[in-house]
Formats: sequence, structure tokens, C-alpha cells
Amino acid sequence: MRKKITIVGAGNVGATAAHWAAERELGDIVLLDIVEGIPQGKALDLMEARPVENFDVTITGTNNYEDTKDSDVVIITAGLPRRPGMSREDLVQKNREIVEAVTRQIVSCSPRCFIIVVSNPLDTMAYLAYKVSGFSRNRVMGMAGVLDSARFKTFIAMELNISVEEVQAFVLGGHGDEMVPLIRYSTVAGIPISQLIAEDRIQAIVERTRKAGGEIVNLLKTGSAFYSPAASAVQMAEAILKDKRRILPCAVYLQGEYGLHDLFFGVPVILGADGAEKIIEAALTAEEKAAVEKSAREVKESITKLNL
Ligand code: LAC
Repeated sequence: MRKKITIVGAGNVGATAAHWAAERELGDIVLLDIVEGIPQGKALDLMEARPVENFDVTITGTNNYEDTKDSDVVIITAGLPRRPGMSREDLVQKNREIVEAVTRQIVSCSPRCFIIVVSNPLDTMAYLAYKVSGFSRNRVMGMAGVLDSARFKTFIAMELNISVEEVQAFVLGGHGDEMVPLIRYSTVAGIPISQLIAEDRIQAIVERTRKAGGEIVNLLKTGSAFYSPAASAVQMAEAILKDKRRILPCAVYLQGEYGLHDLFFGVPVILGADGAEKIIEAALTAEEKAAVEKSAREVKESITKLNL
């Protein structure tokens, strides 16, 4: 039997995630939105691409949570995106209503699913989904680290004019401007980037990575990035659905790891059939620890706005 993936929100991120997931034949896909016609239309359009791209999964568009019943993985993209001049934090109050309502319905229809949250502010919305779901912590995670690391890798590869496949890079922390790209743990063909890129250029790349979401918002003007966020969420779903045991940076609930408690925060995680199976703790220097703590304070402050 095929796996079942529900994507909540048929906007740019949701529809693009459906596209990547269908092309990879990860399972049958249900695309849900409250707007009538949009999920149905996009799903039908994707179905009609099947004979061209040759993927054999079904994509169903719906406004009804009944159709999401017994999903294996649910990707929540619902909520408002940023516009120029807005920080992710400006979305807290509006998106909390949406993410809370969505999570309740998802949990009642798919009590055994894994939830991947994409809505912003990411760490706060993932925390909310975790608390509302009542799920164990391995079942709820946020997508940010894969995207932030992908951006870091992109800029490193562009700087050196080399294949992205040669680059390993990790970004820790919250999905905000205080995220922590870890220079020491970033390598090209196994060589630390500090041996290949001048210090001032590394700092510029780190800064660009931190602000990369905003860079796209400023270009698009009507919304935020969607190709790379969607691809990143689908990579996480794939790791779970295929039990790949990949180590990907994900926002997960911390209970003392990295010295942090009671927040969602981006850390390296083994992703497999049981979801976020294990958090990997890398040793940090005092300077890296301070940067992580600064990012954690930013996330904690956002979480307090939920008044849970
Ligand atoms: C970004 C948004 C999706 O980083 O948070 O592009």
C-alpha cells in the first residue's frame, strides 16, 4: 500500500511541496485548503502532468479533513507569508489561530501521523503544533534547518564556483536572523571552508544566509520563498517515509539538549521511520554557544507571545 501525505495549505509552498513529493513518488498526496477550488484545481493540474513526467501517485485536492484520514506524514504550510518590511514574528497572532485549528483537525483524522510544520514564525508554530497535538516529541518537527543549510551551501558553492554536491554545511538555531551557521562544521570535499574562503567573505556569506528569507521577500514583494522551503520539507518527509535515517537539521522540542529546555530549536536530528529519532549533539566553542543562546532567547521570546 502506498504511503499517504497530506499537505495543508495549497498556496505556493503547499502546491510546490505536492509537486516535489509527487515527482519523487513518495506516496499519494492530499492537498487541503479552506479556499474552494484552489486545492482541487492544483491537484487536477498535477494529475494531468503524470503522463508527461511519469509518476504513479494520486494527488487529491480537498476542503474536507475527512479526506486526510490516516495520513503517514502531514506537512502544515497554512498561514500568511511575510511581505516586505515584515519579520517572521509579525505573523505570530494570525498564524497561531490557523496552525492551532489545523493541528486539531489533523490529529483527530490522523492520530498516528508525523507532523512537519513550515508555517512562520517557524519554531513558535512548531511548538504550538506540538503542544496542541499532544503527540510525543519525535512526531512533531519544524522545517527550517534544511532550508537554512541549503542556503548556506548555495552561497558557499557560488563563492567557490563548485558543485553544491561537494558542500556540507550546518545551520543551528531558530529560523530567524539570529540563526547560527556553523563555520567550523562546514566543509567542501571534507576541507573546512576556512581553508578555502577568506574570513571576510565567510562573514558575508553567513550574513547573507541569515537574511536569505528576507532577500527573497524583498524581491518577490508579494510573499516569501517557496521552491526551496517546499523542497526542504519534502526531503524531511522522504527521510521519514523511506526510513533513511538521514541526519538533517530540524526544529525539534528540546529537553536539555544543547543546554536548552522547553522550546523548538534547530539541531541535527536522525530522521527515520520513527520520525525525529535522535538528536545529535555537536561540541560547541564558547563563542558558538553564546550565538546559540542568543538565538534561543529570540525563540523563547516569541513562544511567550502564545500565552500557552
Ligand atoms: C524563508 C521563509 C519561508 O526563510 O521563512 O524563506
